[in-house]
Amino acid sequence: MKVEEVKDFILNLDLSIKKIVLSDRLSGDVSKIVLRPVEIKGQHLFQEETFKGTQAFHRNLSFHEAITSVDFKNFKQVLAECEGKTIIFSISKNGFKKKEQANNLTTSSISTSHNKAKKYLLSEGEDVPIMQELGIFTKDNKIVASMYDKFKQINRFIEIIDDEFKSTNLKEITILDFGCGKSYLTFLIYHYFVNIKHIKAHIIGYDIKKDVVENCNKLAKKYNYSNLEFILSDVKKDKLFTGKIDMVITLHACDTATDYALNFAIQHKAKYIFSVPCCQHEINLSIRKGGEFDLMLKDGIVKERFCALLTDEIRAEILRAFGYKVDMIEFVDFAHSPKNIMIRAKLNSSKKDNKIFENIENLIKNYNFSQKLYDLTKKL
Ligand SMILES: C[S@@+](CC[C@H](N)C(=O)[O-])C[C@H]1O[C@@H](n2cnc3c(N)ncnc32)[C@H](O)[C@@H]1O
Repeated sequence: MKVEEVKDFILNLDLSIKKIVLSDRLSGDVSKIVLRPVEIKGQHLFQEETFKGTQAFHRNLSFHEAITSVDFKNFKQVLAECEGKTIIFSISKNGFKKKEQANNLTTSSISTSHNKAKKYLLSEGEDVPIMQELGIFTKDNKIVASMYDKFKQINRFIEIIDDEFKSTNLKEITILDFGCGKSYLTFLIYHYFVNIKHIKAHIIGYDIKKDVVENCNKLAKKYNYSNLEFILSDVKKDKLFTGKIDMVITLHACDTATDYALNFAIQHKAKYIFSVPCCQHEINLSIRKGGEFDLMLKDGIVKERFCALLTDEIRAEILRAFGYKVDMIEFVDFAHSPKNIMIRAKLNSSKKDNKIFENIENLIKNYNFSQKLYDLTKKL
């Protein structure tokens, strides 16, 4: 197909388009363009996001303008994600070749509201020097293109926290971050509570890597972020904070580090938990065939995803067993992180629900897997 034919084809797709991505640069200085539907003051537009060097540029256009103004010739691949199918145009000797594959996007999973972007607590252009220092923003406060996914993740994380604390009259808060790494999120949470909400925050980030902990402490000192500290610890075995804890957070803490964080929250009766798990290997490595779900264990990729979902649902159930009200929410679009489920929990009651443990125990008996949070909490 010629470029114009590809454009015509896309223009004839209806508004079930979720996203169009032009990638794999052939020429020019733009490495990628992403077009997404947005609704601004009741108007259906497309947001064009252009990645150039280390920066990302945005503008809002009509669907027709967005498609016609982009130079498709500069890219080897054009992908159009629609409700139910993804259409991929790839460059070949005779122009573009079209391929279609099914997907499971539905209209309800397609968010066009621009309010989300507007609601960001940290916006491009805002002067938050620590964000430059952490490499999220350039010197003129533009988002560094390679950090765009991280920017989305931490912003969305804060947005979810803000939903809970929007109208709080809390004066003080203590938060533990398990597996804080370079601490983009930890610093932003500090900025949110202390500088935006004016709440006295004591925040501790734990990580097993000496260099990142040292660097984060240096930055906290440099920016006078008092009561923000980073401690070198293995959260699986070291003694951690012993005072009152209000909130436990994790963002992609490796594998069972998430279980130790949730266990800590349960044992210390932390009121709030915001946890985005990552690399759930434990069940995948230990599960054996044992019943109705055997079909899901046949093919590697399906087994891996099934076990990851089973891990997170067991974690959610255990939190429920200890009186937490739990939601499992899509935290960011899959494109910004494939590990995009957040376990959001709030302590509601002090009664333990043993039935939940019996159900998990039965599953474990049948399928013979190990699950760390279950092991850590079954005798509590
Ligand atoms: C994928 S990184 C995520 C970092 C950060 N939360 C973020 O989202 O940018 C996971 C972090 O967990 C840390 N980690 C893994 N196991 C740990 C353990 N047992 N104790 C403390 N930190 C751990 C790693 O060193 C790493 O920095």
